[in-house]
Amino acid sequence: MDKMKPKYYLTTPLYYVNDVPHIGHAYTTIAADVLARYKKSKGFDVHFLTGTDEHGQKVWKAAEAQGKTPQQFVDDIAPRFETAWKQLGIEYDDFIRTTEPRHVATVQKIFSKLLKQGDIYKDEYEGWYCISCESFWLEGQLIGDITAQPFCPDCKGKTERLREESYFFRLSKYQKKLEDYIVTNKTFIQPDSRRNEIIQFIKQNLRDLSITRTAFPWGVMVPNDQKHVVYVWFDALINYISAIGYLQDDNKFNKWWPADVHLMGKEIVRFHAVIWPAILMALDLPLPKQVFGHGWWTVEGQKMSKSKGNVVDPLALSSEFGVEAVRYFIMREVAFGADGDFSMNSFINRYNADLANDLGNLLSRTLTMIEKYFQGQVPRSKGQEEDELTQGLNKLITGTPKAVDAAMDKLAFSDALAVIWQMVSAANIYIEKQAPWALAKKGETDQLATVMSTLVQVIKTTAELIAPFMPETSTKILAQLNLGGEKVAKGGPLFPRIAR
Ligand code: ME8
Ligand code: MG
Repeated sequence: MDKMKPKYYLTTPLYYVNDVPHIGHAYTTIAADVLARYKKSKGFDVHFLTGTDEHGQKVWKAAEAQGKTPQQFVDDIAPRFETAWKQLGIEYDDFIRTTEPRHVATVQKIFSKLLKQGDIYKDEYEGWYCISCESFWLEGQLIGDITAQPFCPDCKGKTERLREESYFFRLSKYQKKLEDYIVTNKTFIQPDSRRNEIIQFIKQNLRDLSITRTAFPWGVMVPNDQKHVVYVWFDALINYISAIGYLQDDNKFNKWWPADVHLMGKEIVRFHAVIWPAILMALDLPLPKQVFGHGWWTVEGQKMSKSKGNVVDPLALSSEFGVEAVRYFIMREVAFGADGDFSMNSFINRYNADLANDLGNLLSRTLTMIEKYFQGQVPRSKGQEEDELTQGLNKLITGTPKAVDAAMDKLAFSDALAVIWQMVSAANIYIEKQAPWALAKKGETDQLATVMSTLVQVIKTTAELIAPFMPETSTKILAQLNLGGEKVAKGGPLFPRIAR
């Protein structure tokens, strides 16, 4: 561990293993990877946690449907997430499965501690439950006729009526403290639209939360009361501290906690911005610095679902078009926080326009000209007074990294890429305006040298700035520039055009 470096701890949700990884899961995980790589490049000591959520009624039912024991079922699917992330170039530091002993033990310790201090008590739950969202609902929150089987306000699926003995967490006790905290700490929940929703939600009064189930046997066993398993959300949220050694390894825990950011989709901000902080308050622990709820992807205008058969497989897409193009597209297409749509048309358009044309051509044209006019040796600028076009481009070379930092500090990934691409486009326009072929014809070698060296600076800066998003492309570009060597090493096209 490096004592001098500031730390940065970031997380994704733990994905339910009732499903195999799809483009939605890949979105959050790639965003986390981009952020982790960016923070590392800025000198942070980074800890990036992801994993799988393996307990609960939904997973239990999915296992039953396949005729497998739940353990067998989760053991089959969890590795598919790990493999998927490796194939998408995700460099996580830890992958936690909620069935691991290190996690189960911590959940049980926390349960016992909160029971002992009176933050957990035993009673009976009677009310509605959505298995798909693993969420309890009040009558007033449901959609449709509550004398029949009403629908979940989140996923719009049917809810179930439950009546079970249950332990409760005293969520209501933390209402005031939580509301004050959220109102005072303006960047705790982001974006602001999510923050406002949560403030409204809390103002409607928080009820104590049922945190154990008895209807099925798949979860963390309640200590000394084995007919109860811990409610899957109470279990899963704890991963963010169990994974870094809470109540097990104080040094490790104190090093990383509090998390700098929990990344997730907007549908689960409520769990992370209400239940999770209240649990932390009960444990007398600091709250994460930020909970960020990004938007939802649809596919060709439709909600993604197994029944519709329109689920986009990020691995199939990357084996066809390359991992880096997939990473670029999903980070560039939609502002982080807004909803977006995935379509093959928009994917191919962006690939051809931004990657094949703007970036790919800039590199290949520049290297071709350096080979042609300077025998492959990157010329030095001769130090003459710069023309206006060169001055303009130089301003972008110094200004763009700052603009990228400003965007990344707000997790505005798409803006960061947009400003990089403004520079790339400006460089392509610069080539047209400078017309190096004309300079060569007229024998204006000094100006030609200035133009080429300026272009090389743009390309080098671009390669450095895109590294968190497209690490391999960055390396390939730098290898082709070969700035430490004698001559450029022009290679094949970075992104061969997709014919359509
Ligand atoms: O909620 N668009 O797991 P989950 C964007 N186990 N992001 C999407 C998406 C889409 N269409 N679909 C999924 C759970 N995601 C709980 C979390 S955390 C302690 C427990 C991403 O498998 C997004 O990050 O339903 C979303 O929040 C997450 O997958 C939900 O994954
Ligand atoms: Mg979900």
